[in-house]
Amino acid sequence: MRKVILGRTNCEVSSISLGTWAFGGESMNGKMAVGWAGQNKKDSSDALTRAWELGINHWDTADVYGNGKSESIIGEMWPKIPRKDIFIATKLGWDKGPHKNWYNPNHMRKNLERSLVNLKTNCVDLLYLHHCNFGENDMYLNDAISTIKQFQIEGKTKYLGLSDWSSERVLKYIKICDPDVVQIYHNVMDNNYITSELKNYVDKNNLGVCFFSPIKHGLLTGKYKNPVKFNDGDHRSRVKEFQDVKILKKLRKNKTLLEERFKKKKNPVMQGLINSLFLDSDTGCVLLGQRNKKQVEMASLLGEKLAPDDAKWVKKLYKF
Ligand SMILES: NC(=O)c1ccc[n+]([C@@H]2O[C@H](COP(=O)([O-])OP(=O)(O)OC[C@H]3O[C@@H](n4cnc5c(N)ncnc54)[C@H](OP(=O)(O)O)[C@@H]3O)[C@@H](O)[C@H]2O)c1
Repeated sequence: MRKVILGRTNCEVSSISLGTWAFGGESMNGKMAVGWAGQNKKDSSDALTRAWELGINHWDTADVYGNGKSESIIGEMWPKIPRKDIFIATKLGWDKGPHKNWYNPNHMRKNLERSLVNLKTNCVDLLYLHHCNFGENDMYLNDAISTIKQFQIEGKTKYLGLSDWSSERVLKYIKICDPDVVQIYHNVMDNNYITSELKNYVDKNNLGVCFFSPIKHGLLTGKYKNPVKFNDGDHRSRVKEFQDVKILKKLRKNKTLLEERFKKKKNPVMQGLINSLFLDSDTGCVLLGQRNKKQVEMASLLGEKLAPDDAKWVKKLYKF
């Protein structure tokens, strides 16, 4: 597995890193599905073991993934896997607790303490603010920043990160938050990371960057023939493209084109979808959700940069 230096952290992480959102299983936030149905604990543990064996050494989780379940599964691995071998990132912010705002300092502390217990560690490698929703007139921004910085001073995290689905929102808060690492939505169907100028900022300031949802929760692989019915608690039921016949048809066609163009490689579709993203950053990794051993083994064959012409060709296919 190719390794990259995660920007100014100077930490070496696998270019394909492991996203563990699905390990939380099905989950609801009020009436909203926010998890992944059909996950079992054995698949998750086996995926982690195989990832370690294959050099996928950066694991991404969050306090809210299955309400701590994803973190707990990771925490149970340390008798088998040396803690020092793994770069652990977790996040705070999507659990309000009894409060009106997302970033209540007492609640942030309570959740971080819970994360450390779940992860069975005294200090995580990276702690993110999970989103950039800082309330009306940014009234909770200073609280969020000072609290997370205090956690770093107390030695509960080595590095700080900032995340959101929107590159524009991250860009708006990046100077004041001054994160070491940015975690952002990015895949071949969405070029906002580049057009928003976030890429320029990250490159100029030598920040680490982690691209999440690189295959849009599995959709971009073109493996779906028909609109998909997801079980309760699966966030994919809210992603409209899984129901869009025209998009599914185009993705199936693209699958065939990728299979043809990259036929000499193993996993030609994933080669095209994932390896083209490495052209967009020298200081970061792709956070791929791998739900089981098989998906980890497939992921372990990825991680090299595609040739620039190939990457351009792939991105053009996914302009809708
Ligand atoms: N910061 C944030 O706000 C944020 C938001 C989203 C995600 N993330 C992070 O990024 C990680 C990845 O993002 P994501 O989970 O949204 O989506 P993703 O990586 O784009 O998609 C992952 C899904 O694709 C399918 N898949 C994986 N490997 C495959 C393969 N080789 N062939 C076919 N299908 C495959 C699996 O689902 P099936 O097997 O069910 O098809 C898997 O769960 C998350 O786990 C999380 O750590 C962060």
